[in-house]
Amino acid sequence: MPAADDPGVPPVTAALAIRRYDPELGDEARWQRYEIEMPAGSTVLEALMYVQEHVDGSLAFRRSCRHAICGSCGMRINGCARLACNTQLTAVVAEAERRAARRSAAATSGDDDAALAGAAVRIEPLGNMPVIRDLVTDMTVFWEKLRSVQPWLQSLDDRADADGERLMTPHQYAVIAQGLLCVECGACYSDCIAVEAAPEFVGPTSLVKAYRYAYDVRDDQAHRRLHDLAGEHGMWECTHCYVCTQRCPKHLRVRELIGRLSELAQVEGLCSDAAVKRSQAFVAGIEQSGRVDERTLAEKAGAVRGGVSAALPAPVSEMLRGGAREPISDVDLVRRVAGRLRGPGSTGAEGAP
Ligand code: SF4
Ligand code: SF4
Ligand code: FES
Repeated sequence: MPAADDPGVPPVTAALAIRRYDPELGDEARWQRYEIEMPAGSTVLEALMYVQEHVDGSLAFRRSCRHAICGSCGMRINGCARLACNTQLTAVVAEAERRAARRSAAATSGDDDAALAGAAVRIEPLGNMPVIRDLVTDMTVFWEKLRSVQPWLQSLDDRADADGERLMTPHQYAVIAQGLLCVECGACYSDCIAVEAAPEFVGPTSLVKAYRYAYDVRDDQAHRRLHDLAGEHGMWECTHCYVCTQRCPKHLRVRELIGRLSELAQVEGLCSDAAVKRSQAFVAGIEQSGRVDERTLAEKAGAVRGGVSAALPAPVSEMLRGGAREPISDVDLVRRVAGRLRGPGSTGAEGAP
């Protein structure tokens, strides 16, 4: 057991339920429970390292810098993709306790699996990618998608001083500064609903990279970059769910950057049929139900061919149906506002696809 750094601060006691999978054993993935005690201030990564070093050396996970810089320790903790090295153990233990208390108040039995009983912190591999072993995922497709947006400066300028500095103003730098902070951890990609529904969708990480280069004044390939992403599986398949923004451990406003990429594509005249259908579905969905209907958006944009399958994982299907949200109490008011925005004589829903 590691010693507490400050003897005055009590240690953190935690039950970790870790998703284990070893293809060489030919087993199904399973949950395994570890009861540990760590010094106050420990991160989830330090807890995993403790388990690996002192309890179970067979546990596999990625990590390197331990400072939220290399992006290698991405994993799902209590159902959300995060970096283990900048996630406090105390915080996720408190989350697990609140979840257990809610279950207890609702008198639900919870999971049958004994490893998940009580207030166990659940640790799983990132989503939207195959698992190699335990918490280690195969990120090949993720990297291929990233490479597909050509994330490097390109300029066809014939400059006399080709090796000289290419200066930019502080304002020009500020425009792309957010995009520079991405550590390619895959947390946004892991929990992106559009990738889950349509695995060919390029995904939020690649779109953030595309934003960073499309808006860089030293790059003159913005139109081609945008053209490449305006087609099938590109930027228009994003459903505006904002999960990527919520997940980003570097606090990038991921969805907002994707929106700015789309704005530039529209300025360049690259608004595809899918984008028009999406915009129409966006308005029609709000008028019909008072809220954004991600299911319709994905279908209208062609992101989910053949509609949303009942075979999707239950939480995703639930979210796509909007079932987890509060109903809007006054949809008529929403329709009246939409009608006013459309102009005199509007009944609200005309023009809906
Ligand atoms: S906002 Fe778009 S890119 Fe971000 S998680 Fe949702 S669907 Fe994916
Ligand atoms: S945008 Fe944020 S969550 Fe997505 S890969 Fe980059 S750092 Fe990770
Ligand atoms: S170990 Fe590098 S980001 Fe966590």
